[in-house]
Amino acid sequence: MNNIKAVFICLISIFGCNIQAQTSSENDHEIEKKIDSILKLMTLEEKIGQMTMYNGSWDLTGPPGTVNAKDKFEKLKNGKIGAMLNVTSAEATREAQKAVMEHTRLKIPLVFGYDVIHGYKTIFPIPLGESASWDLELMEKSASIAAKEASAAGIHWTFAPMIDVSRDARWGRVMEGAGEDPYFNSVVGVARIKGFQGDDLTATHTIAACAKHFAGYGFAEAGKDYNSVDVGVYELHNSILPPFKAAAEANVATFMNAFNEIDGIPATAHKYLQRDVLKDGWNWEGLMVSDWGSIGEMIAHGYARDKTHAGELAIKGGSDMDMESSAYEIGLKNLVEENKVSIDLVDDAVKRVLRLKMKLGLFKDPYKYSNLDREASDIYTEAHQEIAREAGRKSIVLLKNDTLPTKSSPLLPLRTNQKIAVIGDLADDKDTPLGNWRAKAERKSAVSLLEGIKNAIPPENITFARGPEFVTDVLEEGKRQFLWPLKFNENDTTGTANALNVAKNADVVIVAMGENAYQTGEGRSQVDIQINKLQKDFLKKVRKANPNTVLVLMNGRPLDLSWESENISAILETWHLGSQAGNSIADVLFGKYNPSGKLPVSFPRSVGQEPLFYNQKNTGRPNSQNTVTFSGYTDSEKTALYPFGFGLSYTTFKYDKLKLSDTTMTKNGKILASIEVTNTGNKDGEEIVQLYIRDLIGSLTRPVRELKGFKKLMIKKGETKTVSFEITKDQLEFYTVDKIWDVEPGNFRLGIGGDSQIKLGAIFKVQ
Ligand code: BGC
Repeated sequence: MNNIKAVFICLISIFGCNIQAQTSSENDHEIEKKIDSILKLMTLEEKIGQMTMYNGSWDLTGPPGTVNAKDKFEKLKNGKIGAMLNVTSAEATREAQKAVMEHTRLKIPLVFGYDVIHGYKTIFPIPLGESASWDLELMEKSASIAAKEASAAGIHWTFAPMIDVSRDARWGRVMEGAGEDPYFNSVVGVARIKGFQGDDLTATHTIAACAKHFAGYGFAEAGKDYNSVDVGVYELHNSILPPFKAAAEANVATFMNAFNEIDGIPATAHKYLQRDVLKDGWNWEGLMVSDWGSIGEMIAHGYARDKTHAGELAIKGGSDMDMESSAYEIGLKNLVEENKVSIDLVDDAVKRVLRLKMKLGLFKDPYKYSNLDREASDIYTEAHQEIAREAGRKSIVLLKNDTLPTKSSPLLPLRTNQKIAVIGDLADDKDTPLGNWRAKAERKSAVSLLEGIKNAIPPENITFARGPEFVTDVLEEGKRQFLWPLKFNENDTTGTANALNVAKNADVVIVAMGENAYQTGEGRSQVDIQINKLQKDFLKKVRKANPNTVLVLMNGRPLDLSWESENISAILETWHLGSQAGNSIADVLFGKYNPSGKLPVSFPRSVGQEPLFYNQKNTGRPNSQNTVTFSGYTDSEKTALYPFGFGLSYTTFKYDKLKLSDTTMTKNGKILASIEVTNTGNKDGEEIVQLYIRDLIGSLTRPVRELKGFKKLMIKKGETKTVSFEITKDQLEFYTVDKIWDVEPGNFRLGIGGDSQIKLGAIFKVQ
């Protein structure tokens, strides 16, 4: 009886309190006091419940009365579940929350997580695509809209951003992040975290973010998803961990660990990573959730004997919450009772769960996100569509724009009075532009390229021809996808001929090709990264029929475009651009927006170059010097076809007068590097000015160049702007042979320009 009374009093004081400005240390102190008081009331079973996350959709929200749904509701009522994923909608989250609030002893609210990766229902460009905008404010804004929409449907927590540095185009998940550079992933990741979390996690329109996958997942062997990672501790700290450190410093609420092992130790049980580096080293107090089933998968890894053993390894290694393995549920109680796992580890994990729930304000109002009115008014609004369109056009990268021999200006932008042939299956595809990980997007809800063009120019100037009919796999979520399209429909004898005829009679042909929505994403690694052969054969015919051909690419990974770059006059990389794709592409095609995007990943000449990234090491034999015994290939150049940071505009920019304020600096001092950038073309345009630095000699070998800053700015035609960067220890330090972050004295070389291949000219010395 006394115990019950104590619980009651305690909960009154928890719910009655007003937790507002979560950032002040006083309130953090208050939160910690409350967490401690709840923890004292909890039984071991209740603690384990808080560390357990269950999947909801397909059964919980599925047909009523299925065994699974019933079973899960029982578990909710018995306090066996602390978090759920894939329960979406105000109604479904309210229903599950009610089961907990009305039946459990302590009434600790559930937290609902979901993969809100590039939008909830309003879909923005896939993260790789949106990163090509290099527009941090925009990325923050799109994440904040995703948070607003998701929170209106009861979601508290997104499993994003993915900040895995990814250097292999074969890896399907390259689409989910910001590409190959550690610094770039750091700043983009932080922008997205700020967008999701805002300044105040208790606000109803913000949600907790999750930095994933900790760590090394993007370095999977040969780009095979889920595969082993084998990097040394220096590479780990210098290339993989920087975005995670930045995320921890930006107060990201949660981290997710990863499926891969690193040098023999699964990330899920990696004590060094999760405890020594993250929780102790960086003093991060957030929640570490396992990846889906990754605790259980340690059995298949050959690291754990059974689920109980896997649970033991995971908790010791620093995993606080078990997503869908039931390992903690199955074995943790015995492990604690048999003194194999210390209760302190359990308490620390539970505190992290409670902290998240406190910071979200759930103790104050567990239902505040499950709001039918907001769900009706805040999702898929016109204002959100406008931002999606803006994000789309800013993410497009112009890869090529030639002037044909008979013409006086480049093929793009097109004039609205030209006769335009729009060709290809993907041109009137309303689904592919939504990409993978599209949350609650309605199928086929994107503005297709054809619709976008129709919205931009008089309809009598447009002729659409699909071309050959391809037989494709059924594009259902969860179904295994192979290369797409699979084959020509042999019964279709007119498609190709008709399209070629349309192409021949047009002033300009716009042909859409690339990858379908599910060709990239989790489990979608490929060895062939060219446009599928069938599409390419057709493209060759179109090109022959009319050389005024613009290729509009839709894809989620860097492609090998060797043939296209030789033979097609204009190429637009449009990724999977989201809800407003067609309008965004038309904005660029017809010159309403001057393209400004730049590649966040290197595009190779051939798949054999992968993994390919600009910030490689020099090696002992970097140059050929007319011999074959150098570090490269005998049958290909070793450079990228389109390098990191590359992208054209409808205008041109000239870089001139690189200056340093001084040629020496102290470790903790600073110098200023500046350059003049002139718009030398005939149109106003935005340029992304990039700073690269090389540390010439180090206690460890250093990359040939590293991105250390960038600025995106509008420069009017004829105008010159001076762009400067402050060089401080932040741009010069690295994880040295002594295992500390430090600036080593010596010479550095620096360059500022429009892509990663610019000459590094100016030398300065750190004393
Ligand atoms: C993925 C995660 C994702 C999780 C939950 C896993 O398969 O690796 O990135 O957040 O599923 O859907």
